[in-house]
Formats: sequence, C-alpha cells, structure tokens
Amino acid sequence: MNTTLVLGGTGKTGRRVAQRLQAKGVPTRIGTPSSTPPFDWTDQTTWAPALEQVASVYVTYYPDVAVPGAAEAVGAFADLAVAHGTRRLVLLSGRGEDGALASEQALQQSGADWTIVRSAFMAQNFDQGMFLEPVRAGEVAFPADPDLAEPFIDADDIADVAVAALTTDGHVGQVYEVTGPRLLSWAGAVAEIATAAGRPIRYLPVSLEEYASLLLENQVPGDYVKMLTDVFTEVLDGRNAWLTDGVQRALGRPPRDFAEFARDAAATGIWTADADHAGPR
Ligand SMILES: NC(=O)c1ccc[n+]([C@@H]2O[C@H](COP(=O)([O-])OP(=O)(O)OC[C@H]3O[C@@H](n4cnc5c(N)ncnc54)[C@H](OP(=O)(O)O)[C@@H]3O)[C@@H](O)[C@H]2O)c1
Repeated sequence: MNTTLVLGGTGKTGRRVAQRLQAKGVPTRIGTPSSTPPFDWTDQTTWAPALEQVASVYVTYYPDVAVPGAAEAVGAFADLAVAHGTRRLVLLSGRGEDGALASEQALQQSGADWTIVRSAFMAQNFDQGMFLEPVRAGEVAFPADPDLAEPFIDADDIADVAVAALTTDGHVGQVYEVTGPRLLSWAGAVAEIATAAGRPIRYLPVSLEEYASLLLENQVPGDYVKMLTDVFTEVLDGRNAWLTDGVQRALGRPPRDFAEFARDAAATGIWTADADHAGPR
C-alpha cells in the first residue's frame, strides 16, 4: 500500500504531480483511459483495479469538477478508495462553482484524510489547453468582459501544493484556495502573452452564444460545448476577481507570476503561428 494514483496524470496538473512524485521516488500510477491499468470516470469497473495497493490519490475529475454528475462520481470513487484502504485523497477543485463545492463535500464525506486544492483559471490553458490554438491564430475569443479580473495560477504551483499534501504532514483537512499573485484582466493577460511572444494577439469578447457557435464551427463536440458554456455562464461574473493566500499557506512561498509563465512558454516557441505542436513543458 505505498503507491500514489494520479488521476488525469497526463493532464496539465496531473503530469506535473506525477513527475514530482517520481522524482521523490514515490511509486506512482497514472490513471487515464489509456493508462495500464486504465482508469475511466465513465466506467466504474476500471476504478477498483486502479486502486490496488494505492495509499493516496490525486483526484482530478474529467471533464470538469463542477458539471452535473461530478459530485456523485467523485463521492462514489472516494468511498471505494476508502473501502480499499486508501487513506489520503487530494482533490483538484474549481473556484466559485456550486457543482465544485458539491464534489468537494462528496469527497470529504468519504472519511478519507482529504485536502482540497481549489484553483483559479490556470495560466497553462494558454499554452497547453483550450486557448493554445486561438493564441497561435492571433485572436482569443472568449465570453468574458475584457476588463474582468482573473488571478491566473501556474500549474506548477498547483502541482507543488498537491505533492506537499500527498507526501507531507500538516495538510489533511485543509482547503487551499489557490490563485496567482496578481489580478490580470482577460485582455491584459492576452496582451502579456502577445508581448512575450513578440507578435500581435488580440482579445475578442464575445457573447456566450457566439462563443458556442465558434466552438461548434471548430468541430468541438456539442456536449462538450454545452459543458463549457454552462460553466462559463456561472463563473465569469466577477465572483473570482480576488486574490487568495493558498499557495503561501501550503508552501510557505508566494505563487509564480503570470509574466514568468508567459516568458517561459514563449521561449519554447509554442506561440509562434507556424510552430509544430511542441511537447509539454
Ligand atoms: N483548467 C483550469 O483552469 C482548471 C481550473 C480549476 C479546476 N480545474 C479542474 O481540473 C480538472 C482537470 O481539468 P483540466 O482542464 O486541467 O484538464 P487536464 O487535467 O489538463 O486534462 C484532462 C485529463 O483527464 C484525462 N481524461 C480524459 N478523459 C477521461 C476519463 N473519461 N476518465 C478519466 N480521465 C480522463 C486526460 O487523459 P488523456 O491524456 O488520456 O486524454 C487528462 O489526463 C477538472 O475537473 C477541472 O474542473 C481546471
């Protein structure tokens, strides 16, 4: 019982968590639909084999911790983990969403030693996620007011907090609401990326309906588009436009600034318009 299971271990934070655990010599198992053994949130028969010999789990729900059905799945998984003898569960959650709170509560009720990492929008959405292609195309269309403030957080900080919670004492029962150190506007974040990348990239505010149409035109599946627009309907009203001290509290150091993220991502060449898809940083 000494393995740590990293659900979503190929994703933005999961990959970083797995790398850090492996560097520490912690036996680590990736849990995704294509891992061995596979782990699939939509197929409960995959859950128990993935939990064999597992002492702790980094829990990232797919597609989003706030969607209908997430809390039930997270709760059922946490209960099964505890029944298998797994003690420690660290959940990646989201800020300002009722559905995310429900998922947190479902995990907490399992009786595990839990830690919640409740995260702001990740900076890595711009170089490894949904905004990569728009940035490379020179225009980021999104249904947020250009002046709406968001304290983007670096996925490296989330991974550091998660690994501290998985491997060291003192984090059980903590809710770490984690943000970057600075509020940026959506237009300001894209402007910082343009400066770092050395090319014009504009931010284009659009309505939710226009955003959904754009995604559908770009072959994003309809149910995924609905999931995104449901989530963005809820959270893009200013409720998350404030800073928190979660990284400082968990790690005793401040979070990384967005400017550092933009500088390092630009240096990989990922944002040049004709770049091949570079590998993950
Ligand atoms: N992105 C943000 O800014 C942000 C902020 C706060 C909270 N969150 C939360 O973080 C979680 C992860 O979101 P993300 O956008 O950052 O994605 P991500 O972790 O970068 O990528 C998704 C991961 O889930 C895996 N996956 C795909 N389908 C799966 C399935 N059916 N069962 C199990 N695993 C599956 C993927 O594996 P493959 O590589 O094999 O596809 C990948 O490892 C979500 O619950 C979200 O609500 C995200």
